[in-house]
Amino acid sequence: MSDKHVLLAVGTLRKNGFNEQLAQKVEALLEGRAEVSRLEYKDLPFMNQDLENPELESVARVRDEVRNADGLWFVTPQYNNSFPGHIKNLVDWLSRPLPGKGRDSVVISGTKTTVSGAGGRTATAGMRASLDALLEFVGADVMRDHETGIALSGESWASGKLILSSEDESSLKAQVDAFLDFIS
Ligand SMILES: Cc1cc2nc3c(=O)[nH]c(=O)nc-3n(C[C@H](O)[C@H](O)[C@H](O)COP(=O)(O)O)c2cc1C
Repeated sequence: MSDKHVLLAVGTLRKNGFNEQLAQKVEALLEGRAEVSRLEYKDLPFMNQDLENPELESVARVRDEVRNADGLWFVTPQYNNSFPGHIKNLVDWLSRPLPGKGRDSVVISGTKTTVSGAGGRTATAGMRASLDALLEFVGADVMRDHETGIALSGESWASGKLILSSEDESSLKAQVDAFLDFIS
């Protein structure tokens, strides 16, 4: 196993959402090749500049986790052709300097990222394009190649179970290989 650490930011808040299931597949594919953990960010308050200084414990913890990881992998649904609002809130907190410090302290700056998502017919293309654009805007180092977008099958929608085609499986494996290279 490499000494690399991949942090997963999962954008579905519901139990057993398709993107939670997709995150579990990513974890399984990374197992033995990198350390993997989940970024717990759901206790972040909505961005409010009154809350920036002193730094809240929840904000400091999330920033530390991102700072200490080699790569940040977003696995998220598409909401109205974009990413969910709580993902924007997370990125907003990561995009701000630490209290009393300069732009060098911005945690998301230079963080290596990749994005995957499962959704309807467009395979989360709108979410991936807008999340990549946001991440680039805040200075992340975005791996744009080898993203995985999954158009859920009728069987998946009917059963609530994420069922991947062989192309989806190949795409996810290629993304894992590419991201491990990208963070090396
Ligand atoms: C507010 C909202 C907006 C949505 N917008 C889209 C959309 O633009 N494209 C799409 O394919 N699915 C859209 N969906 C449907 C989601 O793809 C679907 O609910 C999916 O199950 C969410 O992912 P999850 O199972 O991981 O929670 C939307 C769902 C919600 C709740």
